[in-house]
Amino acid sequence: MKKDLHSKISDKTAVIGIIGLGYVGLPLAVEFANNDFTVIGIDVNKARVDQLNRGDNYIGDVSDDNLKQLVSSKQISATTDFSALVNIDAVLICVPTPLNKLKDPDVSYILNVLDQLTKYVHVDMLISLESTTYPGTTRELILPALEQNDLTVGKDFYLCFSPERVDPGNEKYQIKNTPKIIGGITKECTEMGKMLYEAIIDTIVPVSSPEAAETVKLLENTFRSINIGLANEVAIMCEKLGVDVWEVIDAAATKPFGFMKFTPGPGLGGHCIPIDPHYLSWKMKTLNYRARFIELAGEINTGMPLHVLDLISRGLNQSQQSINGSKILVLGVAYKKDIDDVRESPALDVMTLLERGGAQVDYYDGYVPKIKWNDEDKHSQKKLSSETLRGYDAVVILTDHSNINYDLVKSESKLIIDTRNVFSGIKNPKIIRLGNSLSK
Ligand SMILES: NC(=O)c1ccc[n+]([C@@H]2O[C@H](COP(=O)([O-])OP(=O)(O)OC[C@H]3O[C@@H](n4cnc5c(N)ncnc54)[C@H](O)[C@@H]3O)[C@@H](O)[C@H]2O)c1
Repeated sequence: MKKDLHSKISDKTAVIGIIGLGYVGLPLAVEFANNDFTVIGIDVNKARVDQLNRGDNYIGDVSDDNLKQLVSSKQISATTDFSALVNIDAVLICVPTPLNKLKDPDVSYILNVLDQLTKYVHVDMLISLESTTYPGTTRELILPALEQNDLTVGKDFYLCFSPERVDPGNEKYQIKNTPKIIGGITKECTEMGKMLYEAIIDTIVPVSSPEAAETVKLLENTFRSINIGLANEVAIMCEKLGVDVWEVIDAAATKPFGFMKFTPGPGLGGHCIPIDPHYLSWKMKTLNYRARFIELAGEINTGMPLHVLDLISRGLNQSQQSINGSKILVLGVAYKKDIDDVRESPALDVMTLLERGGAQVDYYDGYVPKIKWNDEDKHSQKKLSSETLRGYDAVVILTDHSNINYDLVKSESKLIIDTRNVFSGIKNPKIIRLGNSLSK
């Protein structure tokens, strides 16, 4: 007798498909494979597919040895051919959802996947969208396309939205111990999705609809964006007040209830926080509502690179120098500590502003050997030596990676602009800390 999806999930014979093998998709693929499921990854990037099939890892949160072993035991394989979906029981969609030039949602990657999925969707298939998107995407965009095939949702196939919550580089919370939200089109969809994810995740949190699940993800990231915006504005206020914002935030964080610590910085980065709130505000515009908190936080956060430029300019001014003509070394271009991801990194904005102002800009980042810069490769300085540091008029700390010798930076740099409070509490005219009275 042909097994149904329920029994295939429970005896782990269900074949899992992951569409989009990036920061979200590859760790998920590995987690299912580590839990004895056979996983087929589908990606349009042939180089990435070939790399995976060689067992070569390219994502920081995945262990090289683990991946090699899973590929050599054929627990994971990858392809560019969507016809593989014919043999896949549960498919998780993890493709990018960026913004277009007008800062509106770009769901073209989801639509491209749908073009293929509609050809291969079959009876007893579970489809779960993990890509962050606006409320309504699963029901308004995906469901009608899949139902064209005379299949009924909740009966012939199952459709859910379950947002990924991965936090790259977080050693404490990974896939298994991060509770997972799920909202299906029908109760049966939610149940089937819950059953699948329970095979790899400790806690599943079902909600009543895909719209609720889509909104949960946007609330989480909007919450971060707004609170970071508040921390950034308080940093600017503290500079005017002659107060150290870092001291204020640390002291406030001793309150055991009603306060959550967020810190200022050179601006927002990464694939989520600068982008996701726009998905919500765009959707609200279609409902004739202006999401004011989101807009205000966006304004403050995107203004931070310009504020950093102002701090650099004030620092150089102390020794009658200007940005124009000076040599600046940026320390850290990844959007956050101890990772290699430069997507939407504010460091790129600061570097652009410096170059436009006439500075010569180089960078050092042990995690990011090169970046694309004006259509060419720009390479990190090879070493952070005394000689390197002495060669610059100012060193700007934009990412506080742990693998940097900050004592050396302190002793050898002529001027330091510290946007991450690496030099906490230090009063030294050559160190300008964001959100500190010294930068008045
Ligand atoms: N990176 C994070 O920390 C994070 C966290 C939570 C949620 N998300 C969300 O997850 C989604 C994926 O993000 P990511 O960071 O993994 O992106 P990514 O760019 O690292 O990976 C996406 C992958 O999808 C592939 N792809 C693009 N179009 C495709 C198509 N039509 N068919 C098959 N594959 C295709 C790309 O080649 C790439 O390998 C986004 O919606 C993002 O907002 C990301």
